[in-house]
Amino acid sequence: MPEQPSHEYLLQLAQEFGTPLYVYHIEKIAEQYQKLKTAFQKSDVVFFYACKALTNVNILKYFKFLGTNIDCSSINEVKLALYSGFQSSEILYTANGISFSEIEEAQGLGVNINIDSLSNLEKFGKRFGHSYPVGIRLRPDIMAGGNLKISTGHNKSKFGIPVAQAGKILELVNRHDLVVRTLHIHTGSDIDDAEIFIKGIEVLFEIIPGFKDLQSIDLGGGFKVPYKMGDKEIDIQRLAEKIFETFTNYEKTNGRQFRIWFEPGKFLVSQCGYFITQVNVLKETEATTFAGVNSGFNHLIRPMFYDAYHHIENISNTGGEKRKYSVVGNICETDTFAWERTLSEVREGDYLVFHNAGAYGFEMSSNYNSRLKPAEVLIIDGKAQLIRKREEFSDLLRNQVITDFL
Ligand SMILES: Cc1ncc(COP(=O)(O)O)c(C=O)c1O
Repeated sequence: MPEQPSHEYLLQLAQEFGTPLYVYHIEKIAEQYQKLKTAFQKSDVVFFYACKALTNVNILKYFKFLGTNIDCSSINEVKLALYSGFQSSEILYTANGISFSEIEEAQGLGVNINIDSLSNLEKFGKRFGHSYPVGIRLRPDIMAGGNLKISTGHNKSKFGIPVAQAGKILELVNRHDLVVRTLHIHTGSDIDDAEIFIKGIEVLFEIIPGFKDLQSIDLGGGFKVPYKMGDKEIDIQRLAEKIFETFTNYEKTNGRQFRIWFEPGKFLVSQCGYFITQVNVLKETEATTFAGVNSGFNHLIRPMFYDAYHHIENISNTGGEKRKYSVVGNICETDTFAWERTLSEVREGDYLVFHNAGAYGFEMSSNYNSRLKPAEVLIIDGKAQLIRKREEFSDLLRNQVITDFL
């Protein structure tokens, strides 16, 4: 198991590269991937890293080196994957709500495609018919995931084709002689219960007989990782056992064997990431003591967006007396990272690190309030390397077209 970067080391990186700063520890990614591979070794499983979590090309290249496939949610992610060395056959494009022209572009690049609407499926059928195998994303009507905002398989979700419309799917498949190779579901993020995956598989098993060309069942991502002290990650070993059992029984009874696909994002990169900020201002109020840092939801939106929890530590005063602080950002809106959190005494100028910052951290960052995006640093073999420069003022102007209309 790789050792976590120490507080002293993170502090040294903050001083060397400046803050706010994203830091990724590459060996942690390898450890997480190894856990998945070991747990699922009895089954025929392929892992597609859901790169929406973190797309820095150095990270993508590392996944290629580790031997994963890759799951993309936009045509630009597909292009980044190709740029990083993935073969078309190793790339899966699972998007939703996209224009048909983007699907045509993906087809032109030769990647695997999961289609998530009847209208695009029909267009695909008319345009490509039998000539290009395809996958279909279904909505299994299962409530799963950490909270409603990150739940994607329930009966009010925009994702996938409702499983109740399987008849319509088959009509299109037959009319256009489509070759459906994959059925896909992704029910949500932060799933800690293996049974949810089994429920999803059972929904798929109901409709599988209609799909004669099926080769793989894609169960999406969503494996929960620990966020707080004492929190647990999903029991991957148990999940793997259950999945093995369920598919083996199906094979015995129905004589059909499928390859299982997964699209883990968070499980692979959440814990490798640290986000380091510096305290600008301390403010005592009757409600709480605010520790205002030199960042905000423009750099790490997860707490404000969907109530995500990030463990926070004061790495420049680790021995300080414990007190409660509300850690807030400098954005001109309510911008709370944590309310009444116990930290070692915080002084202006101290450095606070946010854990679990690898997934959906930098990736969801923006220039709101015309703030600059942070730098990214990668730790490999105990050495830190800059993998994205901190933005500069000129980046804010880069794509603006200055007209002389006045
Ligand atoms: C289709 C699909 N697959 C995989 C993932 C990855 O989920 P997670 O990062 O929770 O593993 C997502 C997340 O949004 C998704 O929408």
